[in-house]
Amino acid sequence: MTAIEIRNKFLNYFRSHGHKIIPSAPLIPENDPSVLFTTAGMHPLVPYLLGEKHPEGTRLADYQKCLRTVDIDEVGDNRHLTFFEMLGNWSLGDYFKNESIRYSIEFLTKELNIPIEKLSVTCFAGDKDAPRDEETAKVWEEVGMPKERIYYFGKNDNWWIAGDEGPCGPDTEIFYDTGKPACSDNCNPSCDCGKYVEIWNNVFMEYYKHKDGTYTKLKQRNVDTGLGLERINMLLQGKETPFDTEIFKPIMDKLQELAKNDNLESRRIVAEHLRASMMIIADGGKPSNIDRGYILRRLIRRMIRHLNKLEINLDRLKELIELNIENLKEMYPELMQNKENIINTIMEEKDKFVKTLVNGEKELQKELNKLKEKNIDILSAEEVFRLYETYGFPPEVTKEIAKENGFKVDLETFDKLFKEHQEKSRLGSEQKFKGGLADQSEETIAYHTATHLLHKALQIVLGDHAVQKGSNITSERLRFDFSHPQKLTKEELDKVEQIVNEQIQRDLPVTCEEMSYEDAKNSGAIGLFANKYGDKVKVYTIGDFSKEICGGPHVTHTGVLGTFKIKKEEASSAGVRRIKAVLIK
Ligand code: SER
Repeated sequence: MTAIEIRNKFLNYFRSHGHKIIPSAPLIPENDPSVLFTTAGMHPLVPYLLGEKHPEGTRLADYQKCLRTVDIDEVGDNRHLTFFEMLGNWSLGDYFKNESIRYSIEFLTKELNIPIEKLSVTCFAGDKDAPRDEETAKVWEEVGMPKERIYYFGKNDNWWIAGDEGPCGPDTEIFYDTGKPACSDNCNPSCDCGKYVEIWNNVFMEYYKHKDGTYTKLKQRNVDTGLGLERINMLLQGKETPFDTEIFKPIMDKLQELAKNDNLESRRIVAEHLRASMMIIADGGKPSNIDRGYILRRLIRRMIRHLNKLEINLDRLKELIELNIENLKEMYPELMQNKENIINTIMEEKDKFVKTLVNGEKELQKELNKLKEKNIDILSAEEVFRLYETYGFPPEVTKEIAKENGFKVDLETFDKLFKEHQEKSRLGSEQKFKGGLADQSEETIAYHTATHLLHKALQIVLGDHAVQKGSNITSERLRFDFSHPQKLTKEELDKVEQIVNEQIQRDLPVTCEEMSYEDAKNSGAIGLFANKYGDKVKVYTIGDFSKEICGGPHVTHTGVLGTFKIKKEEASSAGVRRIKAVLIK
């Protein structure tokens, strides 16, 4: 079986059990740039887990593209990936533990033909916030799981939440026994010796964790499951790593053929980072020095460093991208649709990085000459770090060149500085992730509605070409990107502001209807995000003023918004302008 076949089997199975299939949301959340990337299937569904009605009903199944960068430096070993696909079935206040577990075991044993003897499961052990999940364990026993392969663990292992706040709950995880010998008498599924591989997580999401650390029950009891596609594919094919499956094999083989200095870890890094970069670019990402653009830049640059390490001529990069698109195009048709953009973006970034390498090397040589004059033979950690921060010059290259010139490098201090730096960026990313998922406060809801008013007002003042290119909402302000070729004049800005405030004063009702994508389009609704919502979409109408496709939520009438004030208008990128605005109550 291949990954696509597994994906199809999964979707068909859940379709035949009353689930509607929803397509993957983009890796870059469309209406929520406060989150860096979609990191779990749950992310695009948060409003529905909190109680909004989903246009497709209460039983859904999906295949979600995810990107997690916390372990980016681990890629190269036999299991870590940044980009992966998660298959999921969802109950939005519909079925709960019993059916969810029965679906999982039936799918694994009957559809994928995995013998139950190969499986073990874990359940939540219980603590002050939620009881021991004996209900789940009982269902496991009923479906034939022997007691000795049902384990209980605490929050660290058997509780799922994204970030520190948001919908969450106990989970039950299903593990596959690879047949490797146990590492000790205590070897169990929570051990990462490699004997047990987690394949499926069923989260019973009935709690909300608040900022202050307390838990309350959600309006409804949900199920969120996640089955890692690359992993199950690898296990079913009896492979040791995802890099040995059809997803990566062609590119791994090509790299081996081209490498003059082969090493497996570098080939894995190139193969993994190339796929992740292509997927980010296909969903609209561009390399830059901040946020998600920086992560894309890091992925591409790390890939190039390892191509250099493998001694593969960088002129071959285009061919490698083409080969990878060819190999993955059936699984991800968006790669073919964005082929030119993917190639151009990666090749441009490669050229920039090559220049960086040249500049950094000059700078390093200057520094080494200075030290030589002073008869010093140690290059300080601070200098290695400065080259890294200022020129993007990779520390391992600095070390190499310094060594060639007879210099020692203070590696220990450098590692310390580097770790501090990484920790800072990691905290930054997590902060962003939390913000996006958890914040459904009154303020952010008000800014959502104000964004619709602004979008429409811009189209009235500037013309229909002024369409949304991005939106970022916090509880303090909105930020809206739209296409327009030049700076807005003072008159235009005043006019936009005035129109929005008029609509607020008219206290227009905000209503929501569900309709087919086609009907929405024909009714003149704006903000069409093809492929995002599946067949049915929600359309929010604000009086006679605006009609826009959106997942919500929104205020019920505009009168509550206060006074709308534009704070800033500036360029965002070529042909795209950005407005920052606030609501004053
Ligand atoms: N949210 C859970 C996870 O990401 C299950 O989908 O593992």
